[in-house]
Amino acid sequence: MAKQSREQWRSRSGFLLAAVGSAVGLGNMWRFSYLASEKGGAGFVGLYLLFTLLIGLPVMLAELTIGRGARSGPVMALAHYGGSAWRWLGAVFVATGFLILSYYGVIGGWTIRYAFEAATIGFPVDSAAHFDDLASGYDSLATQVAFMAMTILIVCGGIGSGIERVARVAMPGLFVIMIGIALYAFTLDGAGAGYAYYLNFDLEKALTLDVIVAAAGQAFFSLSLGMGVMLTFASYLPRDSHLAKETAVISFADFGVAYVAGLMVFPLIFALGMGSEISGSTIGALFVALPKAFATMGLVGRIVGLAFFLALVVGALTSAISLLEVLVSASMDAFHWERRRAALVSGVLVTGLGAWSAFDLDILDLADSIAINLFLVGGGLGITIFVGWIMHDPIGEASAGGTPSIVYVIWRGLLRYVVPAALLFILWHALPETWAKFRAVAGLG
Ligand code: TRP
Repeated sequence: MAKQSREQWRSRSGFLLAAVGSAVGLGNMWRFSYLASEKGGAGFVGLYLLFTLLIGLPVMLAELTIGRGARSGPVMALAHYGGSAWRWLGAVFVATGFLILSYYGVIGGWTIRYAFEAATIGFPVDSAAHFDDLASGYDSLATQVAFMAMTILIVCGGIGSGIERVARVAMPGLFVIMIGIALYAFTLDGAGAGYAYYLNFDLEKALTLDVIVAAAGQAFFSLSLGMGVMLTFASYLPRDSHLAKETAVISFADFGVAYVAGLMVFPLIFALGMGSEISGSTIGALFVALPKAFATMGLVGRIVGLAFFLALVVGALTSAISLLEVLVSASMDAFHWERRRAALVSGVLVTGLGAWSAFDLDILDLADSIAINLFLVGGGLGITIFVGWIMHDPIGEASAGGTPSIVYVIWRGLLRYVVPAALLFILWHALPETWAKFRAVAGLG
């Protein structure tokens, strides 16, 4: 039977590392720091933490429950528990993954470029102009293709010997580098202004719709929720795994990395007098202000900068492979392709779509808004309703590895009432914002 030949993780820690590898990526560093600076610092961070706890944890557990129970990719898993009408939600997941990976590969390409330059020519002082040169155009396309080729290659290796093996080496390395840099930043004179910016909570600043929508979207993106990545990874889990525990570990690690990223980025930027660049922050923040700081630090800057961008490459790769894995497992299920063929076909198609973002930063920004604020949040709403209201006995399914405790009862209550209400509210407000962005980019006024 096909079910028996399904691949499995080699170990519990392998699954955890791969799931953390998926969650920890550009979202924790590039996206988190640019949003935190654009949306006013600590207020955004506080909301992001709130959404991680209130929405992220329940939705993560929901995805793991469906995936482990059905033992298949999202499209078939939803049909398994909800009937074939639910396939369309799985199809939305695949489309979302396609869209996200298209521009994720472009940014992943930038990280390769920066790591390479740190090792060879160093960081230029005029980092803004440098970023403009390499962020869009043929340079950007070339690095995107390189990044995607690496991603495809790892996914071809499969679950145990591809994804798990890479995550096992990469993730501990990334943690060590980040903590090292955060400690180093702490020793710099003037780091205090960075901590103040990052950590002084201002309720009034936080409670604007724009900040709320951004923080919710970021919680989904950073935890890799809302499009079936965690669902797919859980489908390779043995039946006796403890899902609530896995949820807690993955989410805590992901938040921890974003938090530490802030502890390294903001003190570094402020200590080196780049604080003013923060206010004009855009998607380039991490690639402009930080390299400029590195450029003024001489040899130390090059070493620290190289370590930083290497960690970023690794984080981006382990996330990109998880996005590609959803497309691969969906096409393996749907067309009965073998893994390599599925990886190659879907990888090349995604790269082709991403070329658009590689040539136009506005498109990249728009794709990011649509994919995250609408598709991920919408997909999360779909999963929430599915597990809260449609799936038969989710508590039994979720606790198959342990005794059903009060935690699961609370979980289902959240999934039924609190999370859908919150997500509807967020979607409702995200729609006009995204629409306005679309009109601006499309030149409609
Ligand atoms: N979470 C990853 C990051 O923070 C990106 C990512 C990987 C992702 N897989 C995903 C985002 C699935 C949403 C859905 O960089």
